[in-house]
Amino acid sequence: MEISLRVNGVARELDVRPQVSLLDALREHLGLTGTKKGCDQGACGACTVLADGERINACLALAVQYEGREITTIEGVEHPLQAAFVGFDGLQCGYCTPGQICSAIGMLAEVKQGEPSAVTDDPAEAAVELDDEDIRERMSGNLCRCGAYNGIVSAIKEAAG
Ligand code: FES
Repeated sequence: MEISLRVNGVARELDVRPQVSLLDALREHLGLTGTKKGCDQGACGACTVLADGERINACLALAVQYEGREITTIEGVEHPLQAAFVGFDGLQCGYCTPGQICSAIGMLAEVKQGEPSAVTDDPAEAAVELDDEDIRERMSGNLCRCGAYNGIVSAIKEAAG
């Protein structure tokens, strides 16, 4: 099928079979290999990208479902989180980092919109408070096998201001 995606602000035409995941479309059809494939079944978060600003696991999404949507991959990200991850050692091997950063961008947008987390049932509190426990809960879909979680949490806190 011929589909058209907007990726990092650019319209891209591609010819994919209907069962091709957004992850494979990005990596194999468009050459955007910054988005990583870990488990390929929605368990690790390595493939996280933003669809109209909302974080999604690209391995669980079909490319054809995202016709006309704005997809942002790590190649299109310019955000203070990137420097913060470097500054706070929020990575070791780096494999999970693109997904961590895309997920954190989506998560910070959710917080701004006042979406409550699982650790507080008060939306007002969730909107202003972003403590370590809250960040860990909100980022629990993104695994880091090197265990750089302390640096990741510190980087997110720094970027969140
Ligand atoms: Fe998509 Fe693991 S590769 S969640």
